[in-house]
Amino acid sequence: MEKKNLYTTHLLILLVLINLSPSLNVPAIFIFGDSVFDAGNNHFIKNCSVQADFPPYGSTFFHHPTGRFTDGRTVADFISQFIGIGLQQPYLEAQIAVMNGSSKEYPSNGLNFASAGSGVLQGTNKDWGVLPIQEQLRQFKTLIEQKAINRSVVERSLFFLESGSNDIFNYFLPLDTPKLDPDAYVEAMVKEVTNLTDQIYKVGARRIVVFSLGPVGCVPARALLPAAPIKRCYGKMNAMVKKYNKGLESLVNDIPRRHPGAIGVYGAVYDTVQHLRAAPTRYGFSNVSSACCGDGPLGGEVQCGKEGYKICQNPQGFLFWDYFHPTQHTYELISKALWEGKKSRIRPINVKTLTNLTLALA
Ligand SMILES: *[C@@H]1O[C@H](CO)[C@@H](O)[C@H](O)[C@H]1NC(C)=O
Ligand SMILES: *[C@@H]1O[C@H](CO)[C@@H](O)[C@H](O)[C@H]1NC(C)=O
Ligand SMILES: *[C@@H]1O[C@H](CO)[C@@H](O)[C@H](O)[C@H]1NC(C)=O
Ligand SMILES: *[C@@H]1O[C@H](CO)[C@@H](O)[C@H](O)[C@H]1NC(C)=O
Ligand SMILES: *[C@@H]1O[C@H](CO)[C@@H](O)[C@H](O)[C@H]1NC(C)=O
Ligand SMILES: *[C@@H]1O[C@H](CO)[C@@H](O)[C@H](O)[C@H]1NC(C)=O
Repeated sequence: MEKKNLYTTHLLILLVLINLSPSLNVPAIFIFGDSVFDAGNNHFIKNCSVQADFPPYGSTFFHHPTGRFTDGRTVADFISQFIGIGLQQPYLEAQIAVMNGSSKEYPSNGLNFASAGSGVLQGTNKDWGVLPIQEQLRQFKTLIEQKAINRSVVERSLFFLESGSNDIFNYFLPLDTPKLDPDAYVEAMVKEVTNLTDQIYKVGARRIVVFSLGPVGCVPARALLPAAPIKRCYGKMNAMVKKYNKGLESLVNDIPRRHPGAIGVYGAVYDTVQHLRAAPTRYGFSNVSSACCGDGPLGGEVQCGKEGYKICQNPQGFLFWDYFHPTQHTYELISKALWEGKKSRIRPINVKTLTNLTLALA
């Protein structure tokens, strides 16, 4: 209770400083996480086996594969469009362009460091060549040390963090024998995210958006797990996800106290997706259980685009695009909820309000 009051006080002070200028106050977005955000980084990692750089990925919007794990734009893309800035390039692509001289500097609208398949725990999917989120952050810090990114830009930018579903999914793999019990595992995950927010604050981040996980236990890929039910979501997995999300939210609530001058926002993606699943027709869905693109039970056993895959006629009618990931239509609905939704979707303020704030920078 006490913490909450303290937080509200900080928030009121910040809200006094709402920007009255006509343009939004955020020049760039820096993005860290997994396949929910990856816009093509893995394509540039040699030997990385987690890829979406082949058709029909991207077919609804870009009309070619970009490395995004959906048929079109991600949440980071939609929010960039709402703000009115360009879509962020994958960091590894921008780096090649700077190294080979085809580009003089890094883009001014931010960078996307996300790597599909990665988690918040260092070991998650390590053998597949993915970049753990700590490694993504290290790359970002290197750019700041090299003065390739301005601290003044960093202080005004949005920071998006989304990771953890791969750690939790892997916990249920029969071959992985986890040593920790579910609570301790989740605690270790939240500890890593706390470390991450501490680090990005230190290098200048002031607007930090932490996305909760969606209902990972409902993804079609649960068909790959012998213990998971097919007809309903995997309750044990969702229980772990909810516990992790709770940890994320209290971490976010603690940001103004722990990091003076910074503001943290918690995106309640889990509840938003459950809301869509509960009233599918209202949101234009005809199918909220199976993947549009894949094969096997729930379309969850074969990755979209791989041998034997099938694709649905109307991706926009499906909640899931492939075995793990939502369609662009789902991402658009989530993006709107995060951009200008009420507190049940994003709190204590939505991304639009966060974007308009003028923070009192030290
Ligand atoms: C935020 O910025 C937008 C776009 O410039 C403007 O229309 C709106 O009034 C601002 N909102 C607030 C709450 O300041
Ligand atoms: C990629 O895999 C090949 C064959 O397994 C190996 O020889 C090579 O060293 C790997 N390259 C990198 C960059 O890991
Ligand atoms: C430099 O790298 C970019 C990829 O970021 C590529 O599109 C471009 O063709 C490369 N240019 C040269 C001269 O190699
Ligand atoms: C950093 O800021 C300075 C002064 O505002 C500007 O001249 C320069 O272009 C900026 N550099 C980058 C990489 O944004
Ligand atoms: C965060 O983790 C890194 C390694 O992943 C470690 O070197 C560092 O000491 C940790 N920082 C804090 C504040 O715990
Ligand atoms: C969803 O789509 C899959 C694949 O096309 C199909 O097998 C399944 O019956 C559909 N489910 C519902 C509830 O329409």
